[in-house]
Amino acid sequence: MSYVIQGGEEGKARLSILGQAMNRYSIGALEKAGLQPGSKCLDAGCGGGTMTYAMAEIAGSGGHVTGIDHDVEIIRLNLQELDTKHAGNVSFRQGEVYDLHEVEEYDMAYARFLLSHLTDPVLAIAKIMHALKPGGYFIAEDVHFSGHFCYPANEAFETYVKWYTEAVGANGGDAEFGVKLYTYLETAGLTDMQMEIVQPAGISGPAKQMSLVTLEKIKNSVLANDITSEEEFTRIVGELRAYTENRESIISMPRIFQVWGRKPF
Ligand SMILES: C[S@@+](CC[C@H](N)C(=O)[O-])C[C@H]1O[C@@H](n2cnc3c(N)ncnc32)[C@H](O)[C@@H]1O
Repeated sequence: MSYVIQGGEEGKARLSILGQAMNRYSIGALEKAGLQPGSKCLDAGCGGGTMTYAMAEIAGSGGHVTGIDHDVEIIRLNLQELDTKHAGNVSFRQGEVYDLHEVEEYDMAYARFLLSHLTDPVLAIAKIMHALKPGGYFIAEDVHFSGHFCYPANEAFETYVKWYTEAVGANGGDAEFGVKLYTYLETAGLTDMQMEIVQPAGISGPAKQMSLVTLEKIKNSVLANDITSEEEFTRIVGELRAYTENRESIISMPRIFQVWGRKPF
């Protein structure tokens, strides 16, 4: 199955806005989950790598973070950027999460907004668990799309939530995955588990922008899956843009579940 949101350069630009909205919450969870100087980490489905770098900053020169993603173009851009950043404790590799070959190599594995896109999250979780050292930490964050809200009520926003959910489902994923994350990770054998929920929202700024930016980047999937017509898609984008630009409106990101635990010794 293909990935539902446009990748490459435009995808990386979108993920940069996502990082501005989300990274401080993600970093907080990583610290609570045990990320520390010297940690050797995996960022599975790293996208544009904003969290790969954030983790590397905490892991320090004695640690290392490997970002993997199946998007060839985004990894090419990440490697280009890495050349200019001179971050010696970061590396990027193109690859499928299902093809992870590492065995008991990482102190921490992280996957943000990856599992909800996968046709086989159980296999992906098993591969990530395999790559973790005994006692290593696994932390995942994922979306519960029906937990979105806006105020005042808006048809274009509700349509976006519906279309995104349908498009992800048509591509074999599950936009409601976040609420199931704890159960999946517990079933995979994690211990000492914890869960938190975050939900960025705003009257301005990156959290408010994310719905419009994401809608624009799922156009191909929405049309390819006959979810709506091009004309209707354009109309809804225009309405959501006007609603987003209105300083009186409040728009949230999805409800986001953060779950972590340890691989047994
Ligand atoms: C919503 S983005 C999140 C990116 C990044 N984790 C972040 O939060 O900024 C999901 C990423 O997972 C990648 N992805 C989707 N399916 C994948 C797979 N089967 N193996 C590896 N990466 C995958 C996509 O290319 C995309 O970059």
